[in-house]
Parts: sequence; structure tokens; C-alpha cells
Amino acid sequence: MTSRAESDFGVPLPGGVLASDRWTVPQLRDDGRPFDWGRCFGREAPRVLDLGCGDGRYLIGSSLARPDRDHLGIEWIEPMVVRAAQRAGRRGLTNVRFVAGDAVAWLSDRLVPDSVDEIHVYHPQPYDDPAVVRLGILSPAFFERAWIVCRRGGILVLQTDHSGYGKHLLEAARNHFDVEEIAGPWPDSPLGRTRREILARRKKLPILRMLARRRDEPRAHEPPRPWFDTPRRKRRVRNRP
Ligand SMILES: C[S@@+](CC[C@H](N)C(=O)[O-])C[C@H]1O[C@@H](n2cnc3c(N)ncnc32)[C@H](O)[C@@H]1O
Repeated sequence: MTSRAESDFGVPLPGGVLASDRWTVPQLRDDGRPFDWGRCFGREAPRVLDLGCGDGRYLIGSSLARPDRDHLGIEWIEPMVVRAAQRAGRRGLTNVRFVAGDAVAWLSDRLVPDSVDEIHVYHPQPYDDPAVVRLGILSPAFFERAWIVCRRGGILVLQTDHSGYGKHLLEAARNHFDVEEIAGPWPDSPLGRTRREILARRKKLPILRMLARRRDEPRAHEPPRPWFDTPRRKRRVRNRP
């Protein structure tokens, strides 16, 4: 039987557990300094970032499938980071790290301009209340900062199972990225790239997947207001460190 640590809602995690002498420790201790990818991974390789990475499922799959890329996951719930790091470590992965922290703060202070090739955000909480909207990862300021941190030719991948929020994101990204909606599941993960995607599909929620390519120059349009309706969500703002 597949253990809970090795599956999400019954969907097996990619890869297999290696003998313990091949395990790695991919949990990163935050030293508070600007993140130095080359020093952390000991090489120069394309860089993949997952903001609000949860239990790390997407990054584990991507690190296994793309050993030529380095991966960093940022998640503010510490037990999720521990779980992600354990699962990656048991697969002997050396091209992924997980760190506990605020992804918004990391994007603005810790990830330097022109340093990342892919930014992924899967199923961020759709805060819509003006009083707490700043707590969401994808505020209007996010897109400008993502554009700055992303290298020329880089991509932003966004995904949500909240259709109102998804429509807003499609518009909000357009000043800085050329946005394409992806029909159907990602070919690399037909059952779901992340735990939340697997859950959303079990609940038969519509999923909006977006692949956005960094524009060489941003457009000077006013960003759309980040207000939209979240009737089927409870507005919870717990877990803020
Ligand atoms: C609905 S879950 C989705 C998790 C994962 N991306 C997935 O698709 O399975 C949203 C995640 O984003 C994390 N999160 C929200 N805001 C964050 C922030 N500012 N910094 C780091 N993590 C954040 C939450 O703790 C939560 O684990």
C-alpha cells in the first residue's frame, strides 16, 4: 500500500524512495541574505521557483524530470516545508531546496533582479477582502516584481480553481507577461501537478492554467483592481508568521 507520505489523495508521488545512504537534506536554513543560487547549488543552471509550494509535489516532480534545472520552493507553513524536504530528500534530490518564509518578502527582498527562469504559483489563496488582499501572493505589485526577478525569456505559471480569481489573474498578468491559457492538464502530470490540483479535480472544480511569457518591455496600462467575489471560500488569514 502507498504510504501517506508517498501519495497525495491516492495519487503516487513521482519517483521512489532510495536507500537511506543516498538521502539528501534539501531543507534550506534561511540566512536572511539575498539568495545566491550558484552558492546554494554549487553550479550555474536554469532556475525554477515555486511560491507557496505547499508539500512540494510540483517541485519534486520537476526536479526528477529536469535534473539540469535548480529548484527553490518557498512556503510559510513550516510543517509543509519539512514534509516537502523529507519527500525530496528520500528521493536523493540535489537540485531542489525548500525554505520556510513569506514568498512575497522573498520576491521583493531576497530574490535579486534578473535571476530566475521560471516562477510557478499553484492555487494561491484568493483573498478578495480589501482589508486583507495584501496577504495574497498575487497582489498587483507581484507582477511587476516577478517581471524584474525573471530573466529575459522567462515564464510565469499560474493556476487556480477559483474562476473569478482566475479571470482577474489573466488580466492582471498582461502588463508584464504575454498570457496563454492552457487547455486541459499539464502533459507532464496528467493527474495533477500539485496536491491542491489533485483535490480540486476530485471535487470537479474548473481549473484555470496559465502560461505567461515575460514581455521584453512592460505595458504602461493601469492594473485591474484586485476585487472579485469568493463566495465559496471562507476568508481565513491564519498561518501568517
Ligand atoms: C491552497 S495552498 C496550495 C499549495 C500548493 N501550491 C498546491 O497547489 O498544492 C496555498 C499555499 O500557499 C501558501 N502561502 C500563501 N501565502 C504565502 C506566502 N505569502 N508565503 C509563502 N507561502 C504562502 C499557503 O501556506 C499554502 O500552503
